[in-house]
Amino acid sequence: MPPPTPIEPKAVEAITADVTAANAPSGQAAPTGFRFRCIACGDLSDSAVQNFRCSRCGDLLEITNPRWSHAQGSSAPTASGLKTTWKQRRDSLSPVDLSGVWRFRELLPTLENLHHVITLREGNTPLYELPQCSRMLGLPHLFAKHQGMNPTGSFKDTGMTVAASFARQAGFRWVACASTGNTSASMAAYAARGGLRSLVLVPEGKISWSKLSQALDYGAVTCQLRTDFDGCLRLLQELVLRAPVYQLNSINPFRLEGQKTLAIELLEQLDWQPPDHIIVPGGNLGNSSAIGKALLEMHDLDLISRLPKLSIIQAEGANALVRTLREAGGKRLVTVQAETSATAIRIGNPASWKKAIRVLQATGGACEQVSEVEIARAKAEIGAEGIGCEPASAVTLAGLRKLLKQGFVKPGESVVLVLTGHLLKDPGFTMEFHRGELLPATAENESAVSELQALRRPPIVLDATLDAVIRTLEQQEKSDIQA
Ligand code: F0G
Repeated sequence: MPPPTPIEPKAVEAITADVTAANAPSGQAAPTGFRFRCIACGDLSDSAVQNFRCSRCGDLLEITNPRWSHAQGSSAPTASGLKTTWKQRRDSLSPVDLSGVWRFRELLPTLENLHHVITLREGNTPLYELPQCSRMLGLPHLFAKHQGMNPTGSFKDTGMTVAASFARQAGFRWVACASTGNTSASMAAYAARGGLRSLVLVPEGKISWSKLSQALDYGAVTCQLRTDFDGCLRLLQELVLRAPVYQLNSINPFRLEGQKTLAIELLEQLDWQPPDHIIVPGGNLGNSSAIGKALLEMHDLDLISRLPKLSIIQAEGANALVRTLREAGGKRLVTVQAETSATAIRIGNPASWKKAIRVLQATGGACEQVSEVEIARAKAEIGAEGIGCEPASAVTLAGLRKLLKQGFVKPGESVVLVLTGHLLKDPGFTMEFHRGELLPATAENESAVSELQALRRPPIVLDATLDAVIRTLEQQEKSDIQA
């Protein structure tokens, strides 16, 4: 890998001007044009500076387009027209139509030229039934939307294709992110495909080797910082104001636009019949915000007749949103010093907390937390379905179990769990779990930990003899009958 080219801080202004010019409609907003809107003061603008914060009040921006809502009295497309167009594109062989993100481009910000699109055929992810979990929970209509089946193994690819394409269109040479691992893997891949250089900031020793190895293999300049994710993100926000680097965290509203397509594709898979509940893990809270935005826009455009309840689940040790709602009524962010073995969501100062609260309120969803034991159990149960996921994704099943107990989810209702990352993203967690090394029993969790025993399948070391293998099979048969 060639050494990184030094970045000239002086070039920032010029490049910022480039990006804003590229995004700004010339003269009047074109009918397909989009604008940036501040989520706090509502200020509308045609351009955004590189930290993607409101120039008036400093809060986060979102992207709006009058064509995404009938309510704005615009010439929004008809629901039936959109459904037909998206269906027809499934027969197309063009790269943008083969992408499960760009296929829905009427609900995405418009590029000046589709040749700027950087795509790895993201999206197009399966919706699985979970028969064993369905039986166990007494929920006949339980599904998993598996975003781990994206090209780099996580949902990040759906947002990255959009934001990286806009970075390329704007003429940036460098893109950068802070990450708990998946964003960096995804960004590095899309940057490589698009001929861009990428800079990764990750907390040292706190992300899985699989994710780190992806960033290295895709050619990113990877910095392991002696801090946590929140520290990495803080530093990145300062960096993008000092150097001509395009930031690809979910603070970047183009990322969230791409991640909306998870919900659009899901509803198309359900023949536009909304489920009663969608349950998603919460970390930096970009994904839940994006899914909620898509649901509201689809509802506005009559693509769906009612809103599913969107619920967000966090790990107990990284429960900033749970505490923000319980202790501060959602009025101010309660930050935490995050700690959880689900390292993808080890985040204590989530950037998109206001956006997430807005979609929780708009859809009537719940916010819950789950323990480390509950996460481990749920992950093994999803694995036993022949699907598997990474620990952060398993909070959805663990959270569902709680929401069912509380009566928030009712037995006859339909539920979709969003599995955000692939099983192979964190093999260390899986190996430790099956070897019984993950959760040392303490006085408080002893009985819960011992219940996990039945789910463990540790590797068995044997002499290489037929006898030894047959004896193992027989023992297994016996314990299966007893179970
Ligand atoms: N699940 C997985 C597998 C993730 O990687 C993340 C976030 C989340 C859930 C939470 O999503 O932040 O939008 O609420 N990972 C980020 C990263 C932060 O850097 O890879 P969120």
